[in-house]
Amino acid sequence: MRALVVREVGGTPRVEEVEPPPLGPGRVRVNVRAAGVCHSDLSMVNGTLTPPYPLVLGHEAAGVVAEVGDGVRRVAPGDHVVLNWAPPCRECWHCGHGEPWLCDRSGGPATPGGRTSSGEPLHVTLGLGAHAEQVVVPEPAVIPVPADLPFEAAALLGCAVLTGVGAVRRTTGVAPGDSVAVIGLGGVGLSAVSAARAAGADPVIAVDVSPAKADLARAAGATDFLLGDESLSRAIRGLTGGRGVDHALECVGRSATIRAAWRAARRGGQVIVVGMGSKDDVVGLSALDIFHSARTLRSSVYGSSDPDRDVPELARAVLDGTLDLAPLISDRVTLDDAPAAFDRVARGEGARTVVLF
Ligand code: APR
Ligand code: ZN
Repeated sequence: MRALVVREVGGTPRVEEVEPPPLGPGRVRVNVRAAGVCHSDLSMVNGTLTPPYPLVLGHEAAGVVAEVGDGVRRVAPGDHVVLNWAPPCRECWHCGHGEPWLCDRSGGPATPGGRTSSGEPLHVTLGLGAHAEQVVVPEPAVIPVPADLPFEAAALLGCAVLTGVGAVRRTTGVAPGDSVAVIGLGGVGLSAVSAARAAGADPVIAVDVSPAKADLARAAGATDFLLGDESLSRAIRGLTGGRGVDHALECVGRSATIRAAWRAARRGGQVIVVGMGSKDDVVGLSALDIFHSARTLRSSVYGSSDPDRDVPELARAVLDGTLDLAPLISDRVTLDDAPAAFDRVARGEGARTVVLF
């Protein structure tokens, strides 16, 4: 099969002919039909995260079940599925306490990837490696969805949409009339903007360093667009009666933007870190500021969502027209053109690129 592989930190992703992973009991082989290029994929390439290499990229995808191993009950060949990069074990403490997104054993034992043409074992991004014609994943990593859901929409449900929408609805709990700021308008941030608007938030202030994101922000439902520069917290105060927003969502994954979100929130407000940053990027906050501002700082892992419950719910919303993912998809490419999409993500261009197979 063909797969997008990166060989070392800082390496260039290249399409390679590789040996597909073996099936095995409890596993499902999926023919990938659509896969998004998420910032976390770039983070696997540019050193923000340090996975083992050689690595098959991709973790936001949907496809059709090709083959199932012994004991698989959840799906059968021909079923359409969304892939879950954090399948919960349903047995650990967090799973038992209604927090499957924090599963202690998420993903279980590492699924073997395929092999390179020279026989080297391949690792797979977040247990999936979905920038490839096929993946083999544990049964809990496939979520059946209706066959009339377009694959490109289904793919985005697996990461950006579940994360961005979940961050608003589940982690933050936005109520009608709340003020919200979303910093970073990629697939995750734009999903958060549309969910905040749908929840009745007003204003919904969208922030990015790229002025080209203004139109995408408005299409997603933002009431205001601001440039993420030095004047940001003053501009946000100007839109919120001098106070700052009730909820500031950071969708970049950097200390600088976490600090910007911190300053954007009002006293007593919430700061939600949605972006996944580097272990070496330290956020400095003064002890007095933490005390005096009385803000809550929390993170949103996978949108505090249970993908088995929430992906089918989001799929229904797409099909009945209440969730429009069209503004999120800026580019559709073949696998051969996926490397260029990584450059676009690095430059902060466009919304989501979807690789179609
Ligand atoms: N201030 C405001 N916006 C910024 C800043 C900044 N200082 N720096 C970058 N951005 C913007 C970029 O211009 C881009 O529009 O953040 C956006 C990030 O978008 P993507 O790269 O498409 O990221 P996305 O896939 O949405 O993921 C966002 O969530 O899942 C995690 O690892 C992922 O940390 C990443 C975050
Ligand atoms: Zn992702």
